[in-house]
Amino acid sequence: MFIDDVKNRRSVRTFDGKGISEEVIADLKSYAQTIVNPYNIPVEFVFLDREKHGLSSPVLSGEKEYIAAKVKAVKNADVAYGYSFEELLMYAVNKGLGTVWIGGTLPRDKFEKACELKDGELMPCMSPIGYVASKMGLKETLMRKGVKADTRYDFAELFFKNDFSTALSEDDAKKLEVNAALEAVRLAPSAVNKQPWRVVVTENAAHFFEKKDKGYDNGTYDLQKVDMGIALYHFEAQCREEGKKLTFKISDPGIQLPEKTEYVASYIW
Ligand SMILES: Cc1cc2nc3c(=O)[nH]c(=O)nc-3n(C[C@H](O)[C@H](O)[C@H](O)COP(=O)(O)O)c2cc1C
Repeated sequence: MFIDDVKNRRSVRTFDGKGISEEVIADLKSYAQTIVNPYNIPVEFVFLDREKHGLSSPVLSGEKEYIAAKVKAVKNADVAYGYSFEELLMYAVNKGLGTVWIGGTLPRDKFEKACELKDGELMPCMSPIGYVASKMGLKETLMRKGVKADTRYDFAELFFKNDFSTALSEDDAKKLEVNAALEAVRLAPSAVNKQPWRVVVTENAAHFFEKKDKGYDNGTYDLQKVDMGIALYHFEAQCREEGKKLTFKISDPGIQLPEKTEYVASYIW
């Protein structure tokens, strides 16, 4: 099940140095072609060879290939980007591959050049792709500690019932059959593990909000909106597997918001 892959996933920054086969790359490329997002904003994936393009990242070791992705700089491009890119990364995780979202710790100029990024396009992130090394590097161990990568906020801190004044209990979520989908959101990766997603659940809808932290919105795109796209994908993928039919809608429910909180999108059932 999707939720099992979510539970088993972690960011991988230390790879085995062997790379991946042409067949695996071809399979990822053909899956990438099938990906669409609820915003209908096309996201284009670019597969990059480390040696050929002279690429690297200070937080990675042993990787031989990267996947980057480009999107036109339009409204909601960052959310759509998170959704589509996470679909490809979770597909890779399901195939036993290691991945990690990289939006900050990369030589951006080199990656943008390797992707042939044009004016009016964005390339907020990339991920290495490969098999995990038998032992985690020291750098990676320290980095995980630094961002408390193995912890997440509790269910009650992230999910609410009807408005932001009442926490949603796991029992409430079970009754509405969204408990596993919300758990898939809770365990998702996010930039610096900030977990900016907040969800207000009613009898027939889940409204997604971004709790904004300082320093993630550069005026062109917001890395925490990428996180929001990841959360939307996790919610939808788990619901879809359970046979719950969802309709995606951008329709602000107009409820009272806590500080620095912004409406993003809703799923209705
Ligand atoms: C949009 C986004 C950008 C990220 N950028 C970086 C990055 O630049 N460098 C890095 O080492 N990790 C990066 N991460 C990985 C997060 O630090 C990681 O997902 C988080 O600490 C939780 O750990 P986990 O993925 O192992 O559960 C990023 C994650 C996301 C979703």
